[in-house]
Amino acid sequence: MPVRTAASGMAAVGDRVGDRTGIILGRTASIAARPVAWNAFAAMEDPLIQKSGLTPIVGGLGSGKTFMAAICVYQCVRAGAHGVILDPSGPLSRLKLIPELTPFTRVYELTGARSQPGALNPYHVIRDPNPDDWDYNPDNDENFGTEPDWDSRVIAARNRLDADRHAAESERISTVVTVFRMMLTPQTRGLRTTNQVLQRAATEVGGSIDHSALEPLQLIGRYSQDNGGSISEEFREAARAIFDELEAMRQLPSARVLFPPPGSTGRVPQAHGSDRLTILTMPGLQLPSDRIPEEQWSPEQRMAGPLMHLAAWLANRMIYDMPRWVRKVLFLDENKYLKETGAGATLNQRINRDTRKFNVRAFVGSQLADDFLGLTDGGDDQSALAYEVFVGDVGSSETAIAGALKLLGLPTEQGYEAVLRGIGGSEDQTHDEDVRAARRQGDRPRQFVVKMGDDIELITADWSNFTHLAHVFDILRSDPTASRTAQPTTAQGIA
Ligand SMILES: Nc1ncnc2c1ncn2[C@@H]1O[C@H](COP(=O)(O)OP(=O)(O)O)[C@@H](O)[C@H]1O
Ligand SMILES: [Mg+2]
Repeated sequence: MPVRTAASGMAAVGDRVGDRTGIILGRTASIAARPVAWNAFAAMEDPLIQKSGLTPIVGGLGSGKTFMAAICVYQCVRAGAHGVILDPSGPLSRLKLIPELTPFTRVYELTGARSQPGALNPYHVIRDPNPDDWDYNPDNDENFGTEPDWDSRVIAARNRLDADRHAAESERISTVVTVFRMMLTPQTRGLRTTNQVLQRAATEVGGSIDHSALEPLQLIGRYSQDNGGSISEEFREAARAIFDELEAMRQLPSARVLFPPPGSTGRVPQAHGSDRLTILTMPGLQLPSDRIPEEQWSPEQRMAGPLMHLAAWLANRMIYDMPRWVRKVLFLDENKYLKETGAGATLNQRINRDTRKFNVRAFVGSQLADDFLGLTDGGDDQSALAYEVFVGDVGSSETAIAGALKLLGLPTEQGYEAVLRGIGGSEDQTHDEDVRAARRQGDRPRQFVVKMGDDIELITADWSNFTHLAHVFDILRSDPTASRTAQPTTAQGIA
């Protein structure tokens, strides 16, 4: 009997998600378990697909996001891609322990005792366009094919480069404003003229790459002492409040990566051509808990958001510094802290827009589906969401489930809620978050609803039967607490 005929009699055999080739995500969770492979670069490389490479991985704490992404990145790198991981809490620096990755992996500690002053200089984390890039080459028909003659091609190419330079400068100015805003207490942030002060200082300094965050800070200090009458009393008062707070923040040990010593601009880490995998960790970062209202955050906790934000930009920059045609994989973990400040959305938009052009598969982990809703793939269709989406156990809250369904493009009230709720679990369903969290502690393989285009499937992230992957999982898992608290002894490539 032909296989197709046989298969048509068994619905489970026909379930389809993924590709015939590619990285292994685990196995289908149906009765007839089948390995799930995924060609992670098809969306960017196949001219017929034309989709963004942004892949949200959504799930609650302990739902397996970090592990899932790590195994994907490992496989992409083994298959020839260059990888950059932003892993603030640091467990993924263990990837460097895997013998086949050791010689090609570099771990940077962006914060903590071994960090470099100015390693997160906000002016440096955004790159300038490279004039040699194909994008600015008059020979590029895609960009300049409609120009009537060569001279106008040359002019158009130069204009394009100027425009992109200008865009990078404005992006730097707005990054400085955003980062300074995040560092303020809610009270000072709420002053009527705060934005004006920050914007004015950042604009006055300008957006070129050779500045340091100290410069706008010093300007704000000057505004606060200005008695010449050119600025209003209210503006001066706000400047004083802002300056005092930022100056106090600058004294924190963790702030030196943001503010290099006067006279220098510091140097952000670079991805070296010989490195296949670059891992950015942030030891000592004090991420504020959800339960503490912002008013009560300590200065160190207020520092965490800005540093994460800049680190995400840096990871992004490292990717775009690589040649455009090279396959690249990016993983930004713990994205939720970016979202809280509203700044993460800008970054997600940017990633969503650029991944295709630069051949990047970008995994972004978050506890909230909402972070990704409303992203488009650059087209006019505002409802178009990420092409590939991973949703793990999001908990039982109705809003979390509704958000996840929306991200997956699934209808509500057709039974899918139960599928998502079932991921958490076990036979005896519970809505108790604490019980669910406790259950997640175990070694039970995690499950994800994976959407690839129009195919959706429940997948069990179990690699134990894939001998070429099981060792990666074991290394990531062994002694997880030690890797989080102690400094990795593996970090030989510290900047
Ligand atoms: N696919 C999996 N199979 C078995 N255990 C897993 C799996 N993924 C994660 N775990 C376990 O769950 C813990 C939490 O996973 P992690 O990926 O850190 O979750 P998240 O990033 O969503 O908070 C890990 O330390 C690991 O022990
Ligand atoms: Mg995680």
